[in-house]
Amino acid sequence: MSTDHNQRLGFGRYGKTAHGREESRQSRKTKTKRQLKEITITEAKNQLLATGEIRKVLSVIGGGKEATVLLAENTEEELVCAKVFRYFTSTIRKRLRGTIHLLEDDMAALAAKQEYWNLHEMKVNNIPVPEPILLSDNIVIMEFIAEENGSLIPAPLLREVNLSHYDPEELFYDSIDILAELFLKGYYIHGDYSEHNLMLTQKGVLLTMDVSQSVQYNTRTFIDTPFRIRIDRAIDLLETDIENINRYFRRAYRITISPNEVKEAIIKELPQKLQNFLNERTLEVYPSDMHTPETLIGKERYRDELVYQRTGTSRQQPSR
Ligand SMILES: Nc1ncnc2c1ncn2[C@@H]1O[C@H](COP(=O)(O)OP(=O)(O)OP(=O)(O)O)[C@@H](O)[C@H]1O
Ligand SMILES: [Mg+2]
Repeated sequence: MSTDHNQRLGFGRYGKTAHGREESRQSRKTKTKRQLKEITITEAKNQLLATGEIRKVLSVIGGGKEATVLLAENTEEELVCAKVFRYFTSTIRKRLRGTIHLLEDDMAALAAKQEYWNLHEMKVNNIPVPEPILLSDNIVIMEFIAEENGSLIPAPLLREVNLSHYDPEELFYDSIDILAELFLKGYYIHGDYSEHNLMLTQKGVLLTMDVSQSVQYNTRTFIDTPFRIRIDRAIDLLETDIENINRYFRRAYRITISPNEVKEAIIKELPQKLQNFLNERTLEVYPSDMHTPETLIGKERYRDELVYQRTGTSRQQPSR
C-alpha cells in the first residue's frame, strides 16, 4: 500500500509517515548496536575494580564465548578468579529466547546470577567446583583453581592434559562420578559437560565449572516449573552430558562405557518416587486437554438424583 493510499484511508497513524516513526526507527537501530557491543578486556577490568573488592587485576585466563575470565587479587591479597559476563552473546540470547519480559541488558547479569547460585548450591552439596565468593551485576568472583598451591597459572583443562602421567580410566570414572553426584545430590544437570569444562589440578583432582546453564529438576512433581525442569527432560540432558564426556575418552584414550548403562545406573539410585514418575510418564497431557473424568460425571448425576428425591425439583446447575 502506498503512503498516499494509507493516508486517504486514514491509516496515516500507522503508515511510513506516521508521527514518531522515524524516531523509533532510529532508536531501534542504535539499540541494536548497543546490544551487540561486547565488553573489552579493559572494560571488564574497570568493572571489576569498581566493585571495590579487587586490588589488582593480574592476567586474563580465559576469553570464552560468554565471558572474560580474569585472575585478580582481592583486598585481602588472595588470588581470585573473576568471570565477567558479556552483555550480549548468542548463547545468552538462545537461552533466553521466548522470555520477552527480560531486557537484553539484564541477560549478562542473569547469566552471572545463575552461575553464582549454581556454584553455591553445588558447593553446598560437596560437588567439586570453584567456591563462589561474590556476585556483582554481571560479575562472579570465585576461588581461583591453580595448577598447584600458590601458582599464578590456572589448572589446565582436561583437554589440555596428557593423561599418560595419570590413570585415564580412573579419571574417566571420576568425571562420571561428578555427573552422578551433581544429578543425585544436587538434582542438577550440568548441561555443558565436556573436556572443556573440567579442570585437573596437579594432585589429580578433577573439578568442573562453567555452570551458568546448569539447571535443577523437580523432585516433587512431574512437571516443568519456572526454575526446575521435569525429571524425564533432565534424564535426556544427562544422557547428552554422559555421551560428551564418553566421546572424549573414547577418542583420546580408547576408553568407553555405554552411556545407556551409566544412565540406568544413575536412575536406579534415584528415590523411588522419582523412578515412578519416570516409569509412568502419564502427565504428557496438559490440564486443558483432559476430559472430565468418569467419576466426576457420575458425581454430578448422583447429586441431581439426590436433589430430586429430596425436593421433587430438578437441581439447578451451579452458575460458573
Ligand atoms: N575458578 C577458576 N580457576 C581457574 N581457572 C578458571 C576458573 N574458572 C574458569 N577458568 C578458566 O577460564 C576459562 C573460561 O572459563 P569458563 O569455561 O567458565 O568460561 P566460558 O566463557 O564459558 O568459556 P568457554 O567458552 O571457553 O567455555 C576456563 O577454560 C578455565 O581455563
Ligand atoms: Mg567453558
